[in-house]
Amino acid sequence: MNIPRTNYVPRLLTCPNRSFFLFGPRGVGKSTMLRHALPEAVSLDLLDASLYLELSRDPHRLEAIIGQKPERTWILLDEIQKAPELLDEVHRLMESRRWRFALCGSSARKLRRGGANLLAGRAVTVNLEGFSAKELGTNFDLMRSVSWGMLPFVQEDPDQAPEILSAYLNTYLREEVREEGLVRRVPPFVRFLNLAGQFNGQQVNLVNIARETAVSRSTVDTYFSILIDTLLGHFLPAWRPGFKVREAAHPKFYWFDPGVARAAAGWLRDPVDRVWQGTALETLVYHELRVYNEISRKLRPLFFYRTPAGVEVDFIIETARRQFDNPPHVVAVEVKRAERWDRSWEKPLRAITSGPELKIDRLIGIYCGSRTYQFDNITVMPIADFITALFAGEIF
Ligand SMILES: Nc1ncnc2c1ncn2[C@@H]1O[C@H](COP(=O)(O)OP(=O)(O)OP(=O)(O)O)[C@@H](O)[C@H]1O
Ligand SMILES: [Mg+2]
Repeated sequence: MNIPRTNYVPRLLTCPNRSFFLFGPRGVGKSTMLRHALPEAVSLDLLDASLYLELSRDPHRLEAIIGQKPERTWILLDEIQKAPELLDEVHRLMESRRWRFALCGSSARKLRRGGANLLAGRAVTVNLEGFSAKELGTNFDLMRSVSWGMLPFVQEDPDQAPEILSAYLNTYLREEVREEGLVRRVPPFVRFLNLAGQFNGQQVNLVNIARETAVSRSTVDTYFSILIDTLLGHFLPAWRPGFKVREAAHPKFYWFDPGVARAAAGWLRDPVDRVWQGTALETLVYHELRVYNEISRKLRPLFFYRTPAGVEVDFIIETARRQFDNPPHVVAVEVKRAERWDRSWEKPLRAITSGPELKIDRLIGIYCGSRTYQFDNITVMPIADFITALFAGEIF
């Protein structure tokens, strides 16, 4: 069942009651959420060209445009990354008028590079992602989400997913990359996007990508930082259990959304194979872990783990950090795109044995079947049950 277009899907993320930044990739529903959460706010959208020109010429106009408003009035400044120079004025008005600001943007990159002080800790930062399976509730469809992702536009209109996702990527290239002048030459960046899409969920090898894109390693580095700053992807670092382990494995790169990864890879018109579906399912689980981490404000570090024997565990959630007297606590999660659980898949989970080096909270296998199993200390559960347990706070 599709989501009826007119229905607002309530979001799990709540707005702080004092000034905040709301960041999130394009199109995840930031503006829509703020309009619902702060209906009485004075709302200013910097996409409005005349407003943008006026304010960037003279940031002091902001106070006059807002007008006589009582203390604690909410001011919503959308697309704040377009005018970082406004932040000093926002800061001043927070102090002198005691107004509260909701500052919304799809990238912190320009805010940082513009030298803005990000309000020096006076505003908290919250992050929105595409829909969570928990938010979609009974409208969540696993195979649709694995195939096309969790962007609101896509979930509302899955029949049009290839067109929507292809337009999404083109808009990104045009508005975020070309118009903002993020890269000097666009064609190599397009080649890079394509490769980064195909390598979703894999360990990053800068040398290989540089060779295939025909640019330098440092340029590939910059390209990745663009994807990360515009929130299109995340590096998942390798977990290192001991203090002593020196050799740092390369991080994995995951796109924020399996549908956008597929668009970047150029596979919107092709049926996707099992290998891709497996990665897409991991991408989805990573997405849900990030959403839960954010809304619960637990903000636990996430990793993948490659054991010394070379077997890999998809996700490690460090639920308590190592201290001098105490080993770190972890939850380990292995994700499988399969309707039947194969017991050989427990091997990587068992390879992280509990010892003086670490304390295991839970070992979890996620798969696409319908039964839950308890094999010794390993819980194997269907993805839907995992999501329920995650948002009930039972996983970490
Ligand atoms: N909570 C929601 N329930 C139903 N549909 C939604 C919801 N949030 C967003 N949408 C749909 O997704 C579209 C994009 O949302 P919105 O414009 O709020 O995203 P955004 O994050 O502000 O994007 P941008 O970064 O491009 O400004 C909306 O036009 C609407 O169709
Ligand atoms: Mg918006």
